[in-house]
This record gives sequence, structure tokens and C-alpha cells, in this order.
Amino acid sequence: MKIVTVIGARPQIIKAAALSRAIKEHFENEVQEVIVHTGQHYDNNMSKVFFDELGIPQPDYNLNVGSASHGVQTAKMIVGIEEILLKEKPDYLVLYGDTNSTLAGAIAASKIHVPIVHIEAGLRSFNKSMPEEINRICCDHCSTLLFSPTATGYQNLINEGFSTGIYHCGDVMYDNSKYFANIADQKSQILDKEELHGVDFVLCTIHRDNNTDQPERLNAIFKALLMISESKTVVLPLHPRTSKLLNVNLEKSLFDKITNNKNIKILPPASFLDMIVLERHAQMVVTDSGGVQKEAFFFQKPCLILRSETEWTEIVECGAAVITDANEERIIESYNKFLENPPHNFPDIFGDGNAAVFICKEMLEKL
Ligand code: UD1
Repeated sequence: MKIVTVIGARPQIIKAAALSRAIKEHFENEVQEVIVHTGQHYDNNMSKVFFDELGIPQPDYNLNVGSASHGVQTAKMIVGIEEILLKEKPDYLVLYGDTNSTLAGAIAASKIHVPIVHIEAGLRSFNKSMPEEINRICCDHCSTLLFSPTATGYQNLINEGFSTGIYHCGDVMYDNSKYFANIADQKSQILDKEELHGVDFVLCTIHRDNNTDQPERLNAIFKALLMISESKTVVLPLHPRTSKLLNVNLEKSLFDKITNNKNIKILPPASFLDMIVLERHAQMVVTDSGGVQKEAFFFQKPCLILRSETEWTEIVECGAAVITDANEERIIESYNKFLENPPHNFPDIFGDGNAAVFICKEMLEKL
């Protein structure tokens, strides 16, 4: 079986690591994987570092599309992916998640009848103003095999009329967190480097465009973080988009207070192993990222979600996470509640750590 895998954004590189590892360990003689990097993320600390740390084979192709408007970025990727699919003639195109790289792969492959495997299928925020919601709906509806990490995702597919080729298989990100947790503790230097040993800290990430690009939302989030920093260290590995926009969209006095605050550690984007260590040792996680929400849950940390909804509804329903949106009062109130009353209920929502092996077996069987 020959598969072409498309990756491009940071979380996809991480997800793809689980499948590449499963192929290497269990299916080396049966599966050939050709990796295409669209170049959507291109900074070393948004891309290369993950290949090095997670042991992913170097991409066979790099489209180097870089940053551009949604239309230009996606269009360049479609052209490049189509060319590669015509040349490689794979049995499947494997796509992850909900980024512009996912959408481009779905459009390119479906038009030339290459069957698509969508990993992380069925997730819905029911908020079509998010580019990711459009990307994941389009990709699901072009796919032949759809692997959903959660029961809710699987049910969403049934509700949309799917009846064949759909699976509830667990989460490849959980595979990775389980596999790398101890390795990360041994290899990562981040706690030493940032002097975080024995420090109670809150880990925060912010990168969604509606938070970074809307000044009122960004200011509300940072006002809340400023308040939290009065009693706790706040560690903020920042996405390049957010770093670029802090001094543009934050009120000047707030920007000064944040950047001159010894309790707020603004860091460059963290590597995967550093991020896992930060998540494992944080007291609480505050984030607008889908992946970081889940990883907080994997490591049994309470999580505040800086969005108006989440695709990972189960983690809210069981009380491990709260949707605070970019609302200053709600963030602080939920933060205080979790400090007084940390959650204890972390049920098995994301499978058993073997999702990637299951996916490989099903792809082979359905060939
Ligand atoms: C993308 C995905 C999002 C995913 C996120 C993870 C889409 C629509 N969104 O969002 O689903 O959660 O990745 O990180 O695909 N930039 C750099 N260096 C880089 C990469 C980006 O400076 O290596 C800057 C550029 O200014 C760029 C901006 O970040 O314009 C946004 O990058 P983009 O690829 O458009 O989307 P993300 O916000 O990263």
C-alpha cells in the first residue's frame, strides 16, 4: 500500500508522527509513506524541530507555500499536491485535522479520484466563522475513510448522513502523549532553562485569529493573565502570529505591564517535548488551541478554553475544562474555582494510545 501524507501546520506534523511510528514499528513491509510538507508553517520552531524530536522521516516534497491569504495559500497548495498525486499514484491520500493544508489536499485528491483518509474526522465547533470548521467539513465530505478520535465526532458524522467508512478509533495525539511523556521528562531542559522547578505556574497559549486579531478580545485575555500573574507565574510560549500582534493590538499600558512583568514568561513557540513537560508540570492550562486542550486533559490538568465553544465537548462535560471565551471576568472566576476545587474526573475519552495502529490496519483491510 502506498500512501501520500500531507502535513503543513505544527499540529499536523505532531499527529503524523504517530502514524509514521506505527508504520515503522508494525507495517514496514506493507506500507510505503510519501510525505508532503506544504510549508504552511516554515519557522524552525514551528516545523523542523518537530521532525527532529518526533523522529518523523524528512518530507519527500516541500511546497514552500509560506504565509499568504487563505485563498492564495490554499490555491498554491492545491496545485502542488495535485502534481504530486498524479506522479506518485498513491492508494490513499492521508490528511489530518482542519488546516488550510487539509482543505487543499481534500480538493486536489477528490477531483482526481484519489481516496482520502481523514484522521481527526467528525469534529465540529458548529461555528462556521472559524476557517477550521469549513476546512474540516469539506474534508470529511470528500473522504473515503473517516477516523474520529471521539464518540461525539463519530456521532456528528452519523448526524451528517455518513454510514460507511467511519470509525471511532481514539486519538493519535493521545498515542503521542503516552509515548513521549517519559522521554520528554528525560530530554527536555525547559524547566531548568526557565527556572520553573518547584514553581506553581499556569501555562497559556493563544493563537486563534479571532483572539489575536480582535483587540478587545486580546486585551481581555491579557488583563486576566495580568491578574493571574499577581499570584502565579504565567508561562506563555507564543505562536508567531500572536507575538507579531501584541504591540499592535494590546493597549500600550497593558503591553508595557505584560512585557515588563517578571511573573509572565513570554517564550518562543515550544518544541513538542518542551510543551509536554510544561503541560505535565503546570498547575492549570489556559488556551485557545484544540490540541493543547486535549493534552491538558491527558495530563489531568484543569483547562480554561479561550473560545466560545469547543470541539472537545467531553472534556467540558466531565468538568475538566471550562469555556471562558475571551471574557476577563469569566477567566478569573473559573481560574479561582479550579484553584479551590481542582477536577478529579478524567475518563477514558481518547482511546488507549493505539489509534495509529488501528488506522493502518483498517487502511490495509479496505484496500
Ligand atoms: C494554523 C491552522 C490552525 C492550527 C494552527 C496551529 C489554518 C486555517 N489554521 O493556524 O487550525 O490550529 O495552524 O498552529 O490552517 N507564521 C509565522 N511562522 C510560521 C507560521 C506562521 O510567522 O512558521 C505567522 C504568519 O504571520 C502567518 C500567521 O502566523 O500569517 C498565521 O499562520 P497560518 O498558517 O495562516 O495559520 P495559523 O494561525 O498558524
